[in-house]
Amino acid sequence: MTRLNRREFIAAGSALAALGPSRAGASAFEMLEARVADIHLLPEQYGRTSIWGFSGSAPGPEIRVTQGARVQRRLVNALPSPTSTHWHGIRIDNAMDGVAGLTQAAVIPGEDFDYDFAVPDAGTYWYHAHNRSFEQVARGLHGALIIEEPDPLDIDREEVLILDDWLINPETGQIADSFGAMRDLSHAGRLGNYITTNGRYNLALPAQRNARLRLRLINASNARIFPLSLEGFEGWIVAQDGMPLATPQAVEGTFLMAPAQRLDLIVDVITEVGGAAHLVHLDRDEPFSQVAFEVTGEASRARRAPPAPLPPNAHQMPNLAEARQLDLVMEGGAMGGMRGAMMGGQSRSMMELAQAGKFWAFNGAVGGMDGPPLAELSLGETVRLRMRNDTAFAHGMHLHGMHFHEVAPDGNLGAMRDATLMQRGEAREVVFVADNPGKWLLHCHMLSHAASGMMTWIDVA
Ligand code: C2O
Ligand code: CU
Repeated sequence: MTRLNRREFIAAGSALAALGPSRAGASAFEMLEARVADIHLLPEQYGRTSIWGFSGSAPGPEIRVTQGARVQRRLVNALPSPTSTHWHGIRIDNAMDGVAGLTQAAVIPGEDFDYDFAVPDAGTYWYHAHNRSFEQVARGLHGALIIEEPDPLDIDREEVLILDDWLINPETGQIADSFGAMRDLSHAGRLGNYITTNGRYNLALPAQRNARLRLRLINASNARIFPLSLEGFEGWIVAQDGMPLATPQAVEGTFLMAPAQRLDLIVDVITEVGGAAHLVHLDRDEPFSQVAFEVTGEASRARRAPPAPLPPNAHQMPNLAEARQLDLVMEGGAMGGMRGAMMGGQSRSMMELAQAGKFWAFNGAVGGMDGPPLAELSLGETVRLRMRNDTAFAHGMHLHGMHFHEVAPDGNLGAMRDATLMQRGEAREVVFVADNPGKWLLHCHMLSHAASGMMTWIDVA
């Protein structure tokens, strides 16, 4: 997009927004305007970068409510492109799930859509665009959705940390507009070259020695798996994808976060005053500080005992004895050896698929939301979904509308999640209760993969 065009779009956007409130019956919904904005994303000396952001920022405004409350937001589309907003990980009314093409029509530029839903679970969630998401999320359309427990935790402070990577054209300082590039679709997805936390490079925050912090980590990137560790902290994972662990798990060594995954950590600062504790990013050869916590003083309290588990969110227990078995074989991509797949009811060669921008298949067919569902499930039924990654790349599989248990190698049900990382060649079974009626997507959250075949859906009625 040229500079001139962008200015025109901004002008058009504000004109449309100005028309909004005069409509008859306008409610008191808070506005969430998706629009183009120029922000300081790169270090100051490189000037501004044009992004697409909710309320003109990236990440967008934090939405924070207490468990059981309602979220009411009017999405106003001031972008040059149709959009929708998905509330990732929330067990939501299907009509509010925000999937353009499945649960609603995309909101065209100048129009709006009212999202209104209750939030049954406490935890760390997020919201993001769900139309051409491989482009719109990469341009900045995402933000944190925080659902607080009714009773406050025994902590000194919390930080929401949204991890992201941006693909920046180093010549222009702008977001590279290579969306849907064949290499991204067929390889590891759109990987950025500029890594941020809350839209900042090298984020530094103050901390006190012996303070206890809650860190709410959100991986908002398109495709990057963040390999992280703690330095100068003693820490515990207390929740995954919003769902509390029955027993907090001490952090030792590296932990991975696939796209869309969240982790809630409780950390105690153990670094001396004058030093810094870090969330360390262990990418390849050079570990670097993803977030630095500069220790400027001492907390008034001594160190505490390890944290108690967070209060659980109420879920129906799976009925394993009568579970339905589903299989999902993931194939395709570069170096995957797939010869071809079904698409639109016809068998296609890899060449034909590539021409259509499709590179992946589920159970031998290029997936999408226009085809038949993976399964039609009865409300309340337990599902064992066996997934196998027969590709040369990692994938982060996400189910909308419900959380699942990862089945551990010993057959036990693990903690609940809404996105699971599957390394190349890996097989994993997940178990869930289909307790939420509607049409729910199941897709890879490497967003370029979802766009090129790694997407299906289930119908619960
Ligand atoms: Cu986070 Cu289908 O989405
Ligand atoms: Cu994938």
